[in-house]
Amino acid sequence: MLDNLKTKRCTIRKFNPSDVGGLFEILSNANVMRYIEPEFSRNQTENFMQKYGLCEEPKIFTLIYDKSKTLIGHVIYHPFKDDALEREFGNGKVFEVGVVLAEAYWNRGIGSEVIGALVDISKESGISAIVLECDKDNLASARIAQKLKFVEKKSGDAYLRLFVLQTKQE
Ligand SMILES: CC(C)(COP(=O)(O)OP(=O)(O)OC[C@H]1O[C@@H](n2cnc3c(N)ncnc32)[C@H](O)[C@@H]1OP(=O)(O)O)[C@@H](O)C(=O)NCCC(=O)NCCS
Repeated sequence: MLDNLKTKRCTIRKFNPSDVGGLFEILSNANVMRYIEPEFSRNQTENFMQKYGLCEEPKIFTLIYDKSKTLIGHVIYHPFKDDALEREFGNGKVFEVGVVLAEAYWNRGIGSEVIGALVDISKESGISAIVLECDKDNLASARIAQKLKFVEKKSGDAYLRLFVLQTKQE
């Protein structure tokens, strides 16, 4: 679904096995992983890419910066399993979105650009709602959700904030 999706400055595409080095460089940085998990080893990066990026129905996708053709992060895009949200928006009609960027690319509007493109593709694909979930201290992610008019819902997890955007009008 997300293969070769263009944003203003980037391309979102499926992972290739050769992406592992670029991904490891990003996910081994403790600043990048601060609100996610402890930083990844090379082995953990390979397993993560294999399990979620190189499988039949990928949940993560590579983010390429077009100007330099560099891998600058990954995008999260997959069905979000949640009984209450699926009752409200339809079974299989709720997707989770997210983005993890290399530190050198923060604060240039790329996160907002990518999530904005995922909002647009979701609207075109008949997805009813998208969810952005982040650590309660991850203010940059919360700001992106706020700018794109996501609505905050009560999270079942005290450490997470849950933002939802309806993408399909009745
Ligand atoms: C979270 C992340 C994707 C944001 O991407 P980004 O490209 O830097 O975000 P943008 O530049 O589009 O926008 C960030 C907004 O948050 C604001 N912001 C950034 N850091 C902030 C902070 N510490 N406190 C408050 N606001 C902050 C920026 O000013 C900007 O708002 P503005 O457009 O009103 O000025 C990026 O920082 C990242 O990859 N972090 C590490 C991985 C991660 O945590 N991913 C999210 C998992 S849910």
